[in-house]
Amino acid sequence: MNKNFYITTPIYYPSAKPHMGHAYSSIVADFFARLKRIQGHKVFFLTGTDEHGQKIQRAAEKSNKDPLEFCNEISKTFRDLSSLLNLSNDDFIRTTEKRHSLAVTNLWKILEKKEEIYLSKYSGWYSVSDEAFYNEDEIEDSDGKKISKSSGSQVEWVEEESFFFKLSKWQEPLLKFYSENPKFILPESRKNEVISFVKSGLKDLSVSRKSFTWGIKVPSKKDHVIYVWLDALTNYLSALNYPNETDKLFQDFWPANIHFIGKDILRFHAVYWPAFLLAAGIKPPQRVYGHGWILSGDEKMSKSKGNILDPIEIIDTYGLDALRYYLLKEVSFGNDGNISKDKLENCINSDLANNYGNLCQRVILFCEKNIGLKIPEKYKLTNDDLSILNDFKENEENIIKQINDQNINYYVEYVVNQLFKANKYFNDQAPWTKKEDILRLNTIVFVSLELIRKISILLYPIIPNTSLKVLNIFSMKEKDIKFDTIKDNEYLKDKKEIIKLGILFTKIKK
Ligand code: ME8
Ligand code: MG
Repeated sequence: MNKNFYITTPIYYPSAKPHMGHAYSSIVADFFARLKRIQGHKVFFLTGTDEHGQKIQRAAEKSNKDPLEFCNEISKTFRDLSSLLNLSNDDFIRTTEKRHSLAVTNLWKILEKKEEIYLSKYSGWYSVSDEAFYNEDEIEDSDGKKISKSSGSQVEWVEEESFFFKLSKWQEPLLKFYSENPKFILPESRKNEVISFVKSGLKDLSVSRKSFTWGIKVPSKKDHVIYVWLDALTNYLSALNYPNETDKLFQDFWPANIHFIGKDILRFHAVYWPAFLLAAGIKPPQRVYGHGWILSGDEKMSKSKGNILDPIEIIDTYGLDALRYYLLKEVSFGNDGNISKDKLENCINSDLANNYGNLCQRVILFCEKNIGLKIPEKYKLTNDDLSILNDFKENEENIIKQINDQNINYYVEYVVNQLFKANKYFNDQAPWTKKEDILRLNTIVFVSLELIRKISILLYPIIPNTSLKVLNIFSMKEKDIKFDTIKDNEYLKDKKEIIKLGILFTKIKK
């Protein structure tokens, strides 16, 4: 099995500050990056900012700034958010970097040499907000304006000389590629949308613009800038030092295992991107997962709509792990999710404080009072004990199978169930009634500590900070977290001391 795993978020437009939607994509990708690492994979996790094009040029003009200066400022807020979200990304790419323009220019030259690109004239509708061309049947009238049916953003008429990529030629090869790689596009429902779009007929794609300058120049015709999507998608290659295909990073990690994106940019990733790559003779990525939207009320939260729930504020008030947990548990992955402070507070109270926090506090406090802060040395596991401990071993294969299909909700459900069961075990076994039977008391404490350990390992990709805090009581560090060890029922046998644990989550008064 190839143990390398390359995982990406979209690179975000630094046209305005990041919001909850961006945080969501990044947290999801981080969840998988961490999960893969503890499963023993060598992971490369990439995020970054998409800094060229008319949308950015206009945003910079509006704030009276030079585009690069403008990007420097806002890109930094995305980088800061990555740290605030505790993302474990290995790199942060900016499309204004030299390494990136080298890659894009190279890819362009290959496409031109292979005669996949030709010069002609574009006339049609363009949305600067989406940086996308639309067909007549994809737009509608709204208050005297023309807007895109899918995104609602305003379109304008564009007529200019432009290079075209021979997308139409790739219609059949793409359909073949989808059918040979049935999990290339997930979730399934969106895959069907993409396939019917491709089947309905692909037209050649305009891939250069002349009417503005903020972008990477077409090498053979410097008055054209390369279409921002051809530029942006290439970030996934440039971060691996493409065009140097013999580079270790490229060798190890291309093709990417998964691009996480929102459904708004599925067409670019699932149609244009594999077509560009196939045309250039580069392997397409293995999977594109188009998740749903985080909604504010009933609308998509977006910079252009100005209805933003600020992740920084939420983290300030409730803490990062509460936000991560909430988004991963409560949004049905793949679908749209309506989020609210009220639901977040319920989640903190019931799952984090009552369920996980309480289990840890009770068990450790009981242990401290009755046997001191140490792992019981003598214990004897009964069938009841083994049955609850073995659940992890019995379900491991299925958890992995579900997670390989990005079934986050299944994973979180499993963990929550184990938490309930562990709390119930401690209650039912009632070690406080076993003061006369010290072997049994020790055994119950041992089993409960093992359950805390196993559950905390499973929680690590979701709430890494809290999980580490808890595992630290057994002197476990990040490098000691191995998914495999959830099968081990006596991992703690050789451990001795327990380090005291502070409060994990405070209940919110409602
Ligand atoms: O499209 N709910 O950048 P962008 C969930 N630069 N996710 C959301 C969201 C919401 N309300 N709003 C944004 C771009 N996102 C291009 C990408 S990639 C080569 C170039 C997330 O700043 C989601 O992942 O508009 C969406 O696809 C992405 O941010 C769009 O970010
Ligand atoms: Mg957008």
